[in-house]
Amino acid sequence: MSKQNQNMPEMTQEQQDKIDTIIAKNAPNGLKKPEEEKKSISKVKKVIGVVSGKGGVGKSLVTSMLAVMCQKAGLKTAIMDADITGPSIPMMFGVHEKAIGIGENICPVATKTGIKLMSMNLLLEQENQPVIWRGPVIGGAVKQFWTDVIWGDVDVMLVDMPPGTGDVPLTVFQTLPVNGIVVVSSPQELVEMIVSKAVNMADLMKIPVLGMVENMSYFQCPDCGKKHEIFGKSRAEEVAAKYNIPAVSKLPIDPSIPAKGDAGLAEELDTDGLKEIFDAIINA
Ligand SMILES: Nc1ncnc2c1ncn2[C@@H]1O[C@H](COP(=O)(O)OP(=O)(O)OP(=O)(O)O)[C@@H](O)[C@H]1O
Ligand SMILES: [Mg+2]
Ligand SMILES: [Zn+2]
Repeated sequence: MSKQNQNMPEMTQEQQDKIDTIIAKNAPNGLKKPEEEKKSISKVKKVIGVVSGKGGVGKSLVTSMLAVMCQKAGLKTAIMDADITGPSIPMMFGVHEKAIGIGENICPVATKTGIKLMSMNLLLEQENQPVIWRGPVIGGAVKQFWTDVIWGDVDVMLVDMPPGTGDVPLTVFQTLPVNGIVVVSSPQELVEMIVSKAVNMADLMKIPVLGMVENMSYFQCPDCGKKHEIFGKSRAEEVAAKYNIPAVSKLPIDPSIPAKGDAGLAEELDTDGLKEIFDAIINA
């Protein structure tokens, strides 16, 4: 017998039944453990992580565009901005209000078209306040974004990762039930090294790499109408084939992208270039 029960008489079956009845009356769904209760505030059907080798290659752009496509297709869509120290998703959607807390939980903020967002930017007093948290605290924030945010019913959640294959992406893969990842690279990079690293990490976590995006792949010339591969010939298909990555999309260098992103108009971006990746996500 355990220590606290030492001085207590055994409970009779009758007493136990009485207690069960009282509990059933007050909590129709039974008494949940805190963990279960947390999980039940959200039903997320599909989680897709967007990763890259280095910063500035267009991860947040691809995350935003894929979310816009999913939402337009009638799916209930959410974005978790797991780039805790460099959050940029709210700005791209022109969302500047703060997330509201309810008890121990936080409500996501919706974009103009209804995509649910959670980002460090929605929690900080001032948006441009630098986040100087390190390691474990950052990992803890990502975990809370999953357990404490009232996501509700979500068909597809896109997770914008910080660059690289470090601690935070690992925490995301260990905390969230990720269904697949999308790798973003640019032609200036050693694309094979980046893709192989992402594939290795995904293999380790037994998560499929659904597709790769070569961003800033070419320039659609307004003069001659041709696609100029400014940074050299693309190796995207070759690398994708080598690593068995089923889908490849290419995005052009397009001055309207930073213009719309900076103006908070992500929902007006031309998303046609990501069709292959979108299909891969739908079928995952
Ligand atoms: N195809 C493109 N054509 C023109 N500008 C682009 C293109 N892709 C991205 N950009 C611009 O490059 C910048 C970096 O893009 P983005 O923020 O999506 O990259 P990131 O990988 O998320 O960077 P970070 O590592 O800082 O989070 C942004 O200003 C964006 O508007
Ligand atoms: Mg980013
Ligand atoms: Zn030309």
